[in-house]
Amino acid sequence: MSHTIVLLPGDGIGPEVAAAARAVLEAVAPHHGLSLTFESHDIGGCAIDAHGDPFPEATAKACATADAVFLGAVGGPKWDGGGPRPEAGLLALRKTLGAFANLRPITLFPGLEHLSPLKEERVAGTDMLIVRELTGGIYFGDKVEGDDHASDLCSYSRDEVERIARIAFAAARERKGRVTSVDKANVLATSRLWRKTVVALRDADYPDVELDHVLVDAMAMKLIEQPSAFDVILTENMFGDILSDEASVIAGSIGLAPSASLSQTHGGLYEPIHGSAPDIAGQGKANPIGAMLSAAMLLRHALDAGGAAAHIERAVADCLAGGVGTADIGGTEHTDAVIAAVCDRIGEAG
Ligand code: NAD
Ligand code: IPM
Ligand code: MN
Repeated sequence: MSHTIVLLPGDGIGPEVAAAARAVLEAVAPHHGLSLTFESHDIGGCAIDAHGDPFPEATAKACATADAVFLGAVGGPKWDGGGPRPEAGLLALRKTLGAFANLRPITLFPGLEHLSPLKEERVAGTDMLIVRELTGGIYFGDKVEGDDHASDLCSYSRDEVERIARIAFAAARERKGRVTSVDKANVLATSRLWRKTVVALRDADYPDVELDHVLVDAMAMKLIEQPSAFDVILTENMFGDILSDEASVIAGSIGLAPSASLSQTHGGLYEPIHGSAPDIAGQGKANPIGAMLSAAMLLRHALDAGGAAAHIERAVADCLAGGVGTADIGGTEHTDAVIAAVCDRIGEAG
């Protein structure tokens, strides 16, 4: 079975980690009877430089017809001075693909508990899935941008809340059966709609799933206080963005965290949760593990190749347990050496 994967390396460390995703996909494919074709396209800052547009038509077309899309990262100080923003390319991509369901698993790797900034006994057992709504909320509401006044509208419909909540409840059934919905219902109208919708859906269709609600400010605290208490965390776009960066370091580094952005009409978008890390770009310091684990999520969700996904995940876990790693996780290897180690391990464990 042949599949086309569009790679969007993007900016900063994006190309370094996109190479890692491609390498593990190419390493694992022959062991599972998969035939993969890769196409690379511009997005973000590099697309502004080359085409004057962060999401060129050719990129949009290629993504729409691909079986899955992998994105490295976009953005950087070069494009901060006014004019089109690289991030607009990523937001347009998510919207066009209908990639509304962003899954961000945060898991502690066995043997790496000491990497957490929190005490080991506090982080032990941490294994959560953040389900972040990705195509609504304040990111996509009407904007006013003037010199003296600016505004960003936050809007959600009941349908938008319901479809992301279904993803969270269904995921909980495959895990520990608990959903924590995070909102700001004491202040925001969108959050009150969110909470009402989530409760009604649980009562109607998922009565077996345990549901509780935490206000986002308290959640920022509880994540640090008792990270292992959470199973599935369901939240809106901006809260999910912020909480997932926070949660990622509990497991050691943002460079380890993968994501999948699922759509009802497309194979989806796969990207590590980190950004373009301009401070380390081009130095071989980028941790490629989040990108590799995103490639595994691509295999599982877009290509229904769960065995191949688990093969990558095992190779990553083995390498990490063996002390392979970049500086952000206390290692000494460069990005390419980590990629080579994981690909070798994939070959050995074939
Ligand atoms: P960032 O995630 O790029 O970096 C935050 C910190 O984490 C930096 O110190 C960086 O060196 C470190 N880091 C990130 N990824 C790492 C990795 N793989 N290995 C080792 N260390 C890593 O966030 P930022 O600095 O706030 O943003 C930089 C740019 O990236 C901005 O333009 C932002 O808009 C963009 N961004 C893009 C995406 C995306 O494309 N999906 C996500 C987040 C931020
Ligand atoms: C992420 C990023 C993006 C977001 C930006 C770059 C638009 O921070 O993927 O987490 O806020 O969604
Ligand atoms: Mn983010």
